[in-house]
Amino acid sequence: MEVIICPNAHRVGEVAAAKAARIAAAIGPKVVLGVATGSSPVQTFAELARLAKAGELDLSQASAFALDEYVGIAEGHPQSYHQIIRKTVTEPMGLDPARVHVPDGFADDLATACAAYEEAIAAAGGVDIQFLGLGTNGHIGFNEPTSSLSSRTRIKTLAARTRQDNARFFASIEDVPRHCLTQGLGTIMDARHVILVATGSGKAHAIAQVIEGPITAMFPGSVLQLHQQATIVIDEEAAAELALAEYFKQTYANLPDWQRVSL
Ligand code: F6R
Repeated sequence: MEVIICPNAHRVGEVAAAKAARIAAAIGPKVVLGVATGSSPVQTFAELARLAKAGELDLSQASAFALDEYVGIAEGHPQSYHQIIRKTVTEPMGLDPARVHVPDGFADDLATACAAYEEAIAAAGGVDIQFLGLGTNGHIGFNEPTSSLSSRTRIKTLAARTRQDNARFFASIEDVPRHCLTQGLGTIMDARHVILVATGSGKAHAIAQVIEGPITAMFPGSVLQLHQQATIVIDEEAAAELALAEYFKQTYANLPDWQRVSL
């Protein structure tokens, strides 16, 4: 696990995007991105869009797979992840909408939709770079505490904490859906590279558990300790409860130039 501590949230976005751009350049224009919604990756995606527009990153044939989608709101709802991904990923990065996939939380047969989503990821050759945020309860995707560490795309019930955290996007907490479709932890772990971004003091406890705590379904993000190419990019506030914060800073400051993300 590579842990990069940045001075502020803006820098988190720049560093995460630069890291992803370097990986994507090595893979080529057919790179397959795994994309998250929520506040955390917004700056990262904006920076990737800037790089693509400036001709510094070729996403012309890229595909994308979203982590999750609510069940119980209409596809056209401004908070549906179909809409959020269109606004934060597809349009700004100039991706072909036909190659951008979001779990079908509006399907009559949700189990079949989940199986089809797994098949679509496999047919695309798997995810090359998976972007993740982190829930205050340790979830990645919507894999809430006690999710199976080897789970696949499926329907989940949102934790009360998640509904509270996401109430800021809705008129009231009553409007926050109770269910979702989410890639499983096993699905996420199959991605070849993972980049998790987190900022702010509200994420400090979850970040410390994910990086330095035991691998446990009670903090689902801790499964990333088993991933061979996981990078965690955080700001000082999110790093506040890390026992090894100084070690991570020293490690990054002394990386050989060829390993460091250049900005
Ligand atoms: C979003 C997702 C979630 C969020 C997490 C953090 O697609 O899967 O895991 O990444 O809830 O949300 P923010 O970034 O809004 O704090």
